[in-house]
Amino acid sequence: MSKKPTFIRNASQLVTLAGSSNAPLTGEKMNQLHIIENGSVWLEDGLIQYVGKDEEAAERYKERLADAEIIDAAGKLVTPGLVDPHTHLVYAGSRENEFNMRLQGATYMEIMNSGGGIHATTSATREASHEALFEESRKRLDQFLLHGVTTAEAKSGYGLTIENEIKQLEVAGQLHEQHPVDIVRTFMGAHAVPSEYKSNPDAFVGMIIQEMIPEVARRNLAEFNDVFCERGVFTPEQAKRILEAGLKHGLLPKIHADEIEPYEGAELAAAIGAVSADHLLRASDKGIEMMAEAGVIAVLLPGTAFFLMAESANGRKMIDAGVPVALSTDCNPGSSPTVSMPLIMNLGCLKMGMTPAEVLTAATINAAHAIKRGKEIGSLEKGKKADIVIFDVPNYMQLQYRYGVNHAHTVIKDGVVVVD
Ligand code: NIG
Ligand code: FE
Repeated sequence: MSKKPTFIRNASQLVTLAGSSNAPLTGEKMNQLHIIENGSVWLEDGLIQYVGKDEEAAERYKERLADAEIIDAAGKLVTPGLVDPHTHLVYAGSRENEFNMRLQGATYMEIMNSGGGIHATTSATREASHEALFEESRKRLDQFLLHGVTTAEAKSGYGLTIENEIKQLEVAGQLHEQHPVDIVRTFMGAHAVPSEYKSNPDAFVGMIIQEMIPEVARRNLAEFNDVFCERGVFTPEQAKRILEAGLKHGLLPKIHADEIEPYEGAELAAAIGAVSADHLLRASDKGIEMMAEAGVIAVLLPGTAFFLMAESANGRKMIDAGVPVALSTDCNPGSSPTVSMPLIMNLGCLKMGMTPAEVLTAATINAAHAIKRGKEIGSLEKGKKADIVIFDVPNYMQLQYRYGVNHAHTVIKDGVVVVD
């Protein structure tokens, strides 16, 4: 933590997203960024102490200006640190061979069902030592940070045995301790049925419920519990049992829902009171309606649809129906090997009908709520963590308009400049 205060001055636009710490933003409110022009922020002790117009901030801190590290943000855009609420950050290996197969017509599920896909990454991850897994994942996390991400969720799900799931979660915990980016952990033992349980998937579900979940919870290795609910992977009935078992042990439910086929995943998320339902490319109208009523956050992953050459989720329809929407990379080696939240925001505009303001809300405060961190991060307000990005563009619309470029110029984490 920096001893010296930091004073970011005179941003051409300071996007605060103020007033949204208690609940995710929905509907028209997703467009209300609460922008301050010529805005400044005073950071001290790792927290935001003051947000306002530059002249007011300068007057307030005039006795202390000489002691502060001053960052001139003139001509630039200042936003809360980006939050990625759905990643498979910790894995070993890479699957460009499958990418090439898909370009020639093979489908994602065909590849998975013939032993590749998640199974291929599971083998590589099981073989990797803790140290090797840490090193590969740390490099990815460095790239997330360079693109403006200051908090990311990370799932297990490439171990699929108790020891290997724990190895992944421990690596994620070590990254949280040692890397500037904060990590929030999700147990996802129900990511695929491993080959050794192929003939008896219910026995694997039983093992997740009776052994893995209690052990993960006992060792405090995760806050959330996620299931890949998809035809040929886990059924809605199995998903429900796994998520309910997690709840009994204090793990909050999330769900990979309706990604490849409509499978009533959105409905299940609403019925069980999941924190979020993610993917939702094929969610039904009824499921969307139920999510809006239950306040389940839709974590949309337009990079995955893009990379799988599928039609994106209908973000526009979900926002109009009152569902709180968040955005994420889904970073993983099979369906979305990207680390770029700015690209995801751009795809949110171009592929899901979201406005530049909505995608920024979805990548900050709503993403923070999707991992239960809305009170600490996701907006620029007094008392929140001093996690901030300075983009080298003069306004938030240009961030989406000048696509394909990393505009993140300076990243500040807990009040300390970590990218410059
Ligand atoms: O969210 N859909 C399931 N899980 C990941 C992909 C994992 C992989 O292919 O390795 C996803 O898209
Ligand atoms: Fe995923």
